[in-house]
Order: sequence, then C-alpha cells, then structure tokens
Amino acid sequence: VFENSTDASKEVAQEIAALIQEKQKEGKPCILGLATGSSPKGLYAELVRLHKEEGLSFKNVISFNLDEYYPMEPNSINSYVRFMKELLFDHVDILPENAHVPDGLLTKEQIADYCHEYEAKIEALGGIDLQVLGIGGNGHIGFNESGSLQNSKTRLVALDHITRVAASKDFYGLNNTPRTAITLGVKKIMEAKRVILLAWGEGKANIVKKSVEDEVTNRVPASFLQEHNNAVFILDKEASSKLT
Ligand code: F6R
Repeated sequence: VFENSTDASKEVAQEIAALIQEKQKEGKPCILGLATGSSPKGLYAELVRLHKEEGLSFKNVISFNLDEYYPMEPNSINSYVRFMKELLFDHVDILPENAHVPDGLLTKEQIADYCHEYEAKIEALGGIDLQVLGIGGNGHIGFNESGSLQNSKTRLVALDHITRVAASKDFYGLNNTPRTAITLGVKKIMEAKRVILLAWGEGKANIVKKSVEDEVTNRVPASFLQEHNNAVFILDKEASSKLT
C-alpha cells in the first residue's frame, strides 16, 4: 500500500526496469503482459521517463497486451492499439513487431485461430515474465468478466453491462460502446511468472477487498490471483481502505 498512485507507479516501473535489464544482461528477451485503462498510465509515463532520461532500453522487450475491443479500428481514439502507442510504444525503443495488441479487425471466422496463435506465440517465448493488470469494478482482469473460468483461454467475450457503462464515457454513450472484446484468458495470466495488479482510488476499495480477502470464485476473476504464487496488489491508500 502506497501513499499515492504516483509513488506506487514509480516503484512498479523500477521493478520492470530491473527485470528488463536483468534479461538484457542474460541476452534474453523480456516478455511483458500489458494492460490499458487508467490504472497503468502513471506506470507508462514513468517507463517513458526512464527511457528518455535514464537510458532504459526496450529493445529486448516483447509485449502482449491483454485485450482489445471488438470490433475496433486500430486508429480509432478508443482503440487499445492507439492507447499503447500514445502512452508507451511511440516513446520508447520497443521494436514495433515486438509489441502485440489483439487485432480488433478480424472477421468472426478468424478469431478462434488468431487467439490460439496469440497464446502459441507467448508459449514459444517461454510465457509471460511479468503481467501488469488493472481490475474492473466487478473484479474482471483483462476482459475476463464474472463467470470466466480459471482455465479460460484467449477468446472473444461479451462485455458485462457494468464494464460497458464504465467505458461509455469514452464512447459518448452506451449505444456506441462495444459489446464484445478479445481478451487473453485467465489461464495465461495465471501462468505469468509474476503478476502486478494496480488499483487506485476509493471506487476500487470494495472489489479489492473481495478479491484479496473473500473466497476464490469465478464471480470475481481477480480472486483467482490468491492462488498465484507470485502475485501482488499494488494499491494507494484509498483502494486499500476496506481491507481488514
Ligand atoms: C484493460 C483491462 C481492464 C482494466 C480494468 C480497469 O486492458 O484489461 O481489465 O484494467 O477495466 O480499468 P481502469 O484502470 O481504467 O480502472
């Protein structure tokens, strides 16, 4: 628990930078799982600063984003491709071909094979070294909504009403908000060697408590992380305020 999200984000950036550099020394790629949304914005700003001011290189980073709305044009202001470019990829030296975000432009028929390949790429690299997560008000991780199974695969999912309401401010109303998304499954998240979930503000306090202190249940997918052997919730004071 940190005094505020800025301090917390800096600490997480330090851990990620250290991991990237350790892998660099070993001559290995660093496989990062990345999230979008408001929670990791401070983290990405700090990683960009570390690149610009302290020479942190992302040349050995291979990243896989958790999710993308479907359907979604990559250049749309709400696309997660655009989000990642604007907040991170365009400001560091990651190779464009190493920065993966699920494709929101597939045909329905292509999705299953594409999702299978997305996971196969991660597996071929030995899995995710470090996965960054946010948490939805309903406990979703990625877009694994309530009811997602612990062994769920990367797939097309229907977004919960509560998730769509939260997103609707960015889409100028619920009617324009996508109903579906492609998400990395819970299984690949659970297989990551290290998981860091970020949550800020009072609005997350209830779901953080449920995820950390209540029973493990697929009604709250973030509660699965209780069974991960190297997962941490990084919180500001407000998000931690309901913990006993
Ligand atoms: C985004 C994602 C989502 C968000 C979650 C919290 O890639 O996977 O699970 O992390 O909806 O969003 P924010 O951070 O905006 O509160």
